[in-house]
Amino acid sequence: MNYQWYPGHMTKAKRMMEENIKLIDLVIEIVDARIPLSSRNPDIDSLAVNKSRMILLNKCDLASDKVNDEWVRYFTDSGFIVLKINAKNGTGIRNVNPMILEACKEKIERDRRKGIKNRPVRCMVVGIPNVGKSTFINAIVGKACTKTGNKPGVTKGKQWIALSKQIELLDTPGILWPKFDDEKIGMNLAFIGSINDEILHMDELACSLIKILQSDYAGTLASRYGIEETAEEAPHDILAKVAVARSCIRKGGEPDTDKAADMIIDDYRAGRLGRISLERPEDGDILNG
Ligand code: G4P
Repeated sequence: MNYQWYPGHMTKAKRMMEENIKLIDLVIEIVDARIPLSSRNPDIDSLAVNKSRMILLNKCDLASDKVNDEWVRYFTDSGFIVLKINAKNGTGIRNVNPMILEACKEKIERDRRKGIKNRPVRCMVVGIPNVGKSTFINAIVGKACTKTGNKPGVTKGKQWIALSKQIELLDTPGILWPKFDDEKIGMNLAFIGSINDEILHMDELACSLIKILQSDYAGTLASRYGIEETAEEAPHDILAKVAVARSCIRKGGEPDTDKAADMIIDDYRAGRLGRISLERPEDGDILNG
């Protein structure tokens, strides 16, 4: 498959991030709980050096809860403050503010020792497109939104939102670009819809998903589409069965596997196939080669 990412926007996005990151104490990185590694950009680690760090596993409603917990352990062990959230319905959001203070406790203590009182910690949300940055900001800001406006000494035009007396959030998230020089990462990003579908071969993508479901989530396709499914069957044959079961038939009577492929991918993205994680911590080295 040939993946492409809006190359023109990358440099601009990176420059914006570098400029904004200077102003903040804590980087709140949002990832998609279904693919927490593939939906990270590893460059964030050098961009956010010397900052406090938090990872939010968003869309946890779409991923296996058991695997979500494995990821919480994995990132906690790597030194992050981690939370699983559903930004869309607000689950987990109320835990964010206390965890921000926990993540910044050393800075708060340093300030206190220097006699600086009530200086809020400043946070910025970052992540690749579509992980839920805007949804999260809306959820955390809620109705209690107070824009603090421009402040002396802060780059002109930046808006800070007071989340509490102790926490301020930059209102514009930092957009990272996904990295998909590895075929598997590209595929994972395509499954969740972070790559423009027009450049994808949807039948190949659907067959790859079917293969994962056959081995890790056996019975999922059978129960969703009312077909018989075995672990040994070729994914394309299963795709054809789904087409028939859902009356996707071409004019000549052949199963319309293109239509069935779109349907399966769409169902996966919307969570209609259930809570399915596509990465586990033991796949951890895929970003490092
Ligand atoms: P971005 O700023 O990072 O680019 O992402 P954005 O907030 O626009 O969210 C992208 C999509 O993900 C939206 O769906 C949003 O509703 C959905 N989303 C965000 N957080 C969650 C979550 O925790 N769980 C689930 N299931 N979905 C989430 P959309 O289809 O683009 O819009 P809409 O039809 O939902 O309004």
